[in-house]
Amino acid sequence: MDYSYLLFVNFFVFCTCSASQPNFVLLFADDLGFGDLGCYGHPTSLTPNLDRLAAGGLRFTDFYCTSPVCSPSRASLLTGRYQTRSGIYPGVLYPGSRGGLPLNETTIAEVLKPLGYATAAVGKWHLGFGANGTFLPTKQGFDQYLGIPYSHDMGPCWNLTCFPPDVKCFGLCDVGTVTVPLMQNDAIKQQPVDFLNLERAYSDFATNFIAASAKKKQPFFLYYPSHHTHYPQYAGPGAAGQTLRGPFGDALFEFDTTIGNIMTTLEKTGVLNNTLIIFTSDNGPELMRMSRGGNAGLLKCGKGTTYEGGMREPAIAYWPSTIRPGVTHELASTLDILPTFASLAGAKLPQVVLDGVDMTEILINHGKSKREAMMFYPTDPSEMYGLFALRLGRYKAHYYTRGATHSGTTPDQDCPVFAVLKAHDPPLLFDLEADPSENYPLSLVGKPELQAVLEQIKKVKQQFEASMVFGKSQISKGVDPNLEPCCNPQCSPKPSCCMC
Ligand SMILES: *[C@@H]1O[C@H](CO)[C@@H](O)[C@H](O)[C@H]1NC(C)=O
Ligand SMILES: *[C@@H]1O[C@H](CO)[C@@H](O)[C@H](O)[C@H]1NC(C)=O
Ligand SMILES: *[C@@H]1O[C@H](CO)[C@@H](O)[C@H](O)[C@H]1NC(C)=O
Ligand SMILES: *[C@@H]1O[C@H](CO)[C@@H](O)[C@H](O)[C@H]1NC(C)=O
Repeated sequence: MDYSYLLFVNFFVFCTCSASQPNFVLLFADDLGFGDLGCYGHPTSLTPNLDRLAAGGLRFTDFYCTSPVCSPSRASLLTGRYQTRSGIYPGVLYPGSRGGLPLNETTIAEVLKPLGYATAAVGKWHLGFGANGTFLPTKQGFDQYLGIPYSHDMGPCWNLTCFPPDVKCFGLCDVGTVTVPLMQNDAIKQQPVDFLNLERAYSDFATNFIAASAKKKQPFFLYYPSHHTHYPQYAGPGAAGQTLRGPFGDALFEFDTTIGNIMTTLEKTGVLNNTLIIFTSDNGPELMRMSRGGNAGLLKCGKGTTYEGGMREPAIAYWPSTIRPGVTHELASTLDILPTFASLAGAKLPQVVLDGVDMTEILINHGKSKREAMMFYPTDPSEMYGLFALRLGRYKAHYYTRGATHSGTTPDQDCPVFAVLKAHDPPLLFDLEADPSENYPLSLVGKPELQAVLEQIKKVKQQFEASMVFGKSQISKGVDPNLEPCCNPQCSPKPSCCMC
């Protein structure tokens, strides 16, 4: 019996007899690694809701983000394009950055809006703030936004409230900038933000948005990029001290609790069957933070590197009426989310070079991926060096390797910043299916079949690089402290007077 055929028919009937378009909920964790979830093998993480999504949905083993750091990865997620095209490199945006995701880039929200979707973003944006909030989510297709427009450690951490309130927070973070603001659409609602009640505010915003859209019978797109589980970790009263894993585990548990609230609301409002939920993370764990960073599981190194630990992520797709539970080993990426949502909603694709492919077939049939290759750019991509690595099918070739500050502290000498840039000719070749930990480079001696693989990889690399047009770097435009969000713009002395 060919069940995949049945499922396809089922999906087709579902799509035609239900006039309503599917809703989309995109959950994005921060600095969460391959080994951090209960359903990916972590022994003490408490992630009952994510585990439930994994058990009832499709769990990916070979899912990649496009950059080992935050802003570029988010640019690719929302545009379906490598960050080199949109100019979100090198590194990440800062509170006073002049640049941001160019407004002529088309985001998932902008793809869905013409079809009548309600759109909302809640949480960490990190695609720019700019003069008078030029680059905020409301300028990129989101009807509503509640959140911190960048990382929550981009401000003095000693003012970050922890639980219980008399416990001092960890570290100093960025002491030279304004305290961390909470934005509601384009306005500063709170500065500094109250971290103890932040997750509750996010959860209420998300569930209210779902309930309001469901009531209006309007299809919706909810984008929830969480601050959890980025350093230095915080958690409100419901989660602090609740896990065996400590501060990292508490932060993750708090995020998981919000996911549970979202699911309950989808169920109660009767739209769960018509909602595709996707969960993944922006990049690998920040190993330099030790137990306050994440865990890459069996993958090599973490954040900042182009080893697997930097860019291979947990990913779950859940859609009870449509996705059969299981595990897929197909190659997929954050790049593929925009084309997939567009295809499921019947939306037009933007008229630009897209790097994403439609993964509907993987979702509804446990079918084959249309993605042949995954490209690995370093945190500072350049035309001179090009790709650091390329995965084609089961093989990954490293042309350059380098450690990173973010990946310090583990015993593996290849991970920390002391592992300087190294060119490999011939490239280091790994069979990721046999050796996901990149422990055993393959010898080419007397192996014509592996030499043929390398030739093929070289061809794909050349074709890809010939087609890559680097967008002007938005991050190299630098920072202007006057652009940092300040609820009291005329005050002095800055940045400390920006408090309301
Ligand atoms: C956006 O505008 C810039 C500057 O004019 C241009 O270089 C870039 O190609 C445009 N991007 C898109 C996606 O149209
Ligand atoms: C922001 O907008 C106000 C009012 O339009 C203007 O006076 C101010 O110069 C703008 N600030 C920046 C940094 O562009
Ligand atoms: C932040 O903490 C420092 C050091 O404890 C204190 O001097 C300062 O007043 C605090 N600022 C705010 C905005 O709470
Ligand atoms: C959701 O879909 C499942 C499977 O198709 C079905 O058993 C269930 O009754 C549906 N629930 C609702 C509320 O439509």
